Amino acid sequence: MNDVSVSEGVAYVYDSDWQLETRRLLANQVIWDAGTIDHLERLGVRDGWRCLEVGAGCGSIAGWLADRSGPGGRVVAADLSTERLGWLAGRGVEVWRHDVRSDPLPAEAFDLIHARMLLQHLGEGRDAVVRRLAGALRPGGFLYVEDTDPSPVFRGTAKDALSAVKAAGYQIMREAGFDDRGGQSDIETLLRCGFSDVVADGRVAVIRGGSAEAENYLLWLDYLAPRMRAAGLVGDAGIAAARRLLQDPDHRWLSQVMLSVVGRKGGRADDGH
Ligand SMILES: C[S@@+](CC[C@H](N)C(=O)[O-])C[C@H]1O[C@@H](n2cnc3c(N)ncnc32)[C@H](O)[C@@H]1O
Repeated sequence: MNDVSVSEGVAYVYDSDWQLETRRLLANQVIWDAGTIDHLERLGVRDGWRCLEVGAGCGSIAGWLADRSGPGGRVVAADLSTERLGWLAGRGVEVWRHDVRSDPLPAEAFDLIHARMLLQHLGEGRDAVVRRLAGALRPGGFLYVEDTDPSPVFRGTAKDALSAVKAAGYQIMREAGFDDRGGQSDIETLLRCGFSDVVADGRVAVIRGGSAEAENYLLWLDYLAPRMRAAGLVGDAGIAAARRLLQDPDHRWLSQVMLSVVGRKGGRADDGH
């Protein structure tokens, strides 16, 4: 438990086998799904689309894509860990155990590829991954990626305990390869990889202590706390004080900035999307 998963020399900071990881990912969906779905609506996802959701987590977005693209469409949910995606089989979704850094993808098979909070965990391998994803898109197809910038998290609350765990937690994450420039790096990557019509925007949530959304931050802290203590970054009292604030309904804080970045694969679009 609480080990760093390592594959092909790149670490993913969260351990998929941590007993609370499913709850952490579900709370993450509660915060971010509505904005992601807004973007997908605006992209015009519709009947017959072929969609790939990479780093699918608990699969809520893959489920939405399956409903929207209908029986004539195709949706694939791909992740290093597929244990949380079994429920999607009943929705007609193909579930692939897949390492986006190394596993092959079919050529020009998808109209849309979406990945949320994945690329920023891939370290220097990000460009190679994006080039491989581009190969799996049809000409004119959309790559929609989302990653976070933690700058505003907990800011303005004047709570020292939260500042301390924020500094410690993101230090540990950066050491495991996390890119805290998030979507800013995604914009540069998509441009370097030849995508056209690259557009980006950001969104921030206000989180209330003790809420379903707050659980994501509480579990983030619980997951990283042993490493914060072991590295001497925050002690028991600091962690307990931060936990109290995260459960306090009278306390509100800002989320990360979620940057959504969309680009189109160059070349002739063959179906007028
Ligand atoms: C932070 S979670 C985000 C989950 C989901 N996209 C969401 O936003 O709700 C990152 C997900 O990417 C998966 N992941 C990490 N590294 C991966 C890789 N190399 N290939 C495929 N999936 C990966 C993890 O297992 C996890 O489910």
